[in-house]
Amino acid sequence: MSLQDSIPNNVDLGSDRKLMRALQKWQPNFLSWWRDMGPEGFQEDQIWLRTAISVDASGWAHFDYVKMPDYRWGIFLTPREGERNIGFGDVAKEKVWEEVPGELRGMLRRIIVTQADTEPASVEQQRLLGKTAPSLYDLRNLFQVNVEEGRHLWAMVYLLHAYFGRDGREEAEELLERRSGDVDKPRILTTFNEPIDDWLSFFMFTMFTDRDGKYQLAALAESGFDPLARTTQFMLTEEAFHLSVGEYGVDRTVQRAAEATIADSNGDARAQGAIDLPTIQKWINFWFSSAVELFGGEISSNAADYFAAGLKGRHHEQKKYEEHKALGEIYAMPVVENGKLTSQEIPLRNAINEQLRDEYVSDCERAVRRWNKTIAKAGISDFELKLPSRRFNRKMGIYAEHTFDPEGNLIDEATFEKKKGEWLPTQEDRDYVQSVMKPCYEPGKMAGWIAPPRKGVKGKPLDFEYVKFTAS
Ligand SMILES: [Fe+2]
Ligand SMILES: [Fe+2]
Repeated sequence: MSLQDSIPNNVDLGSDRKLMRALQKWQPNFLSWWRDMGPEGFQEDQIWLRTAISVDASGWAHFDYVKMPDYRWGIFLTPREGERNIGFGDVAKEKVWEEVPGELRGMLRRIIVTQADTEPASVEQQRLLGKTAPSLYDLRNLFQVNVEEGRHLWAMVYLLHAYFGRDGREEAEELLERRSGDVDKPRILTTFNEPIDDWLSFFMFTMFTDRDGKYQLAALAESGFDPLARTTQFMLTEEAFHLSVGEYGVDRTVQRAAEATIADSNGDARAQGAIDLPTIQKWINFWFSSAVELFGGEISSNAADYFAAGLKGRHHEQKKYEEHKALGEIYAMPVVENGKLTSQEIPLRNAINEQLRDEYVSDCERAVRRWNKTIAKAGISDFELKLPSRRFNRKMGIYAEHTFDPEGNLIDEATFEKKKGEWLPTQEDRDYVQSVMKPCYEPGKMAGWIAPPRKGVKGKPLDFEYVKFTAS
């Protein structure tokens, strides 16, 4: 198969020889990265996967058995109908750019590389999870997420190769050289260096961290640099699946926790082999507080510059806002002043990150309400999960200099240290969660800590053989 055929695309790859040559050099390095750092131990197995082979409704979700290294990582941009003008910032109403404007080159490259770096990072973070999958259904979903993060890397590398010349090619190589959690060559963002070594963490990661990705991609889908806008728009269609794996995975864990609590005569879910609700709450506190960092500083001149330059808009900039310059408006932000929380008026452009974080937080709150319905439905009326305040447990930004409880109240450090074990996973909690992570590979069967999903994948029954192991 020629490279052109092995990379499904709608960017007319075949007609650009220089780009083809660049990708031809990069592809073997990508594959050897995938073999080294992709899912460990399942590379020869047949996985029931969806592959995007075109952007239209019938082609973007083609299902078949495939060995992961044979997955066809494609390059797709959402087609644009008619002309588009930039929708925000100082350049609002100007025509979108098909090439990178010289003066924005550095900023744009940084935005693309930062987004790109998260894609292989998450594959690396998740590479051992297959060994403890709670079911074939979940195993298949994990691999689906992994190959699609691989495709997102391809999407970003395409932009680097096609629009940034030599330094783009160098960045593309470095994306395969950094490693999640590595002391010398770590991934760019902290959250993407945290190990994901149990499935509850995986579900929390796809719920909270991938969801940050959704909002970052949505902000970039507004970009004045049209190829970036169209690429990220198509990535969002795949991202929706990752988010559902997370939200629904937590929901199934919550369901089992609630049912086990009811079933046990002492109300002890752990005695029934489930993960108890207070432990799930700690995982929420940890992963949510880690994911909210990804939106960047609360008061940010960088974000203001990106917005002014037309590089990065707001979530649903066109649908939601009437005024697209964000000038002359203010944002009321809680800040600590003289040891007290007070509200400060920030020029809106400097609070763009915080506005995006607001959208994200309310989306997360919606999911928590859904989980609480599951708890109530199981018959528990005296326990509710809660999203912690965005000020809780922060390492960056204006809240990092202070300590807050999960409700967002200012507390002293000694109190935080004393209560930490009630709010965040302790070693004992981690050991317990790890102890129930036993693989369950029999079609249709589930590990004891998680409820079965309501339905299978794409009309297939739950006991479908989502992964066919190669007899070894
Ligand atoms: Fe992604
Ligand atoms: Fe994702």
